[in-house]
Amino acid sequence: MTRPRITVVGSVNLDLVVSTERLPEPGETLMGGSFSSHPGGKGANQALAACRLGAEVSLIAKVGRDANAEEALALLKRDGVNLSGVGVSPDQPTGVALINVAADGENQIVVAPGANAVLRPEDLPERIEGALVGQHEVPLDTLAEAVARCNGFVSLNLAPAMDTADAVLKRSDLVIVNKTEADFYGRQALLAVGGRVAITLGAEGAILFADGVEIARAAPPKVDVVDATGAGDTFTAALTVALLENQPADQALRFACAAGALAATRAGAQPALPLRHAVDALV
Ligand code: RIB
Repeated sequence: MTRPRITVVGSVNLDLVVSTERLPEPGETLMGGSFSSHPGGKGANQALAACRLGAEVSLIAKVGRDANAEEALALLKRDGVNLSGVGVSPDQPTGVALINVAADGENQIVVAPGANAVLRPEDLPERIEGALVGQHEVPLDTLAEAVARCNGFVSLNLAPAMDTADAVLKRSDLVIVNKTEADFYGRQALLAVGGRVAITLGAEGAILFADGVEIARAAPPKVDVVDATGAGDTFTAALTVALLENQPADQALRFACAAGALAATRAGAQPALPLRHAVDALV
């Protein structure tokens, strides 16, 4: 089978993670457990996840001229994601995400975007051949321009939730949101856009709609959840790869749910992204 060709336009972060028994309340200070840092960022996670699932992936992104950039890009480089489209900002630092992971695997994330916020339309290639995967951790006008320059399948993970141009939504072949994001956009409004829309429901799995009609529903396999960071990014990458491989809708959704579930079984976003054979074995 020819490998799907995907360009990801998105964020690169260094994730700074502290584990705690539970997530803190507003204004509360909690004593945490161990500290760790991992490569992250929704764009980078989706790029690496798609690569580990068998796609040929290029990443268009921006990092700072600092040591965090090296750490943030290390696994992408090691696994063979094409990083020739990753620029370096002379004056902005590499994006950083402060992440708190509770014992049940739930997390809280705050992102300081740094160089991600200065990824401009000028940084994009003239044309994006093949499929495009995007999210909302880079400026929305840059994302809109990437969508306009893409001649193939457009997959958008509308996270974090923020207003997206109608033209961008209409051009998308696949839109992916979680429960909270679906509430923000309004489920009916999303479904009215047409094309395929996937809504993830955490432990309850996911639903896939086509032109407003439910076409598949899948539950994830039972796994021991350690850290849910990156599970949604893995789902996005896996569903995109499966649909590009022309897998039938229900099989593609089961594949994406299994990939997302596996990503939650290990600590950290990128260290936990599953390899293709592990997902196939679980499906
Ligand atoms: O989706 C998880 C990602 O969100 C983390 O890796 C973090 O960097 C934030 O961008």
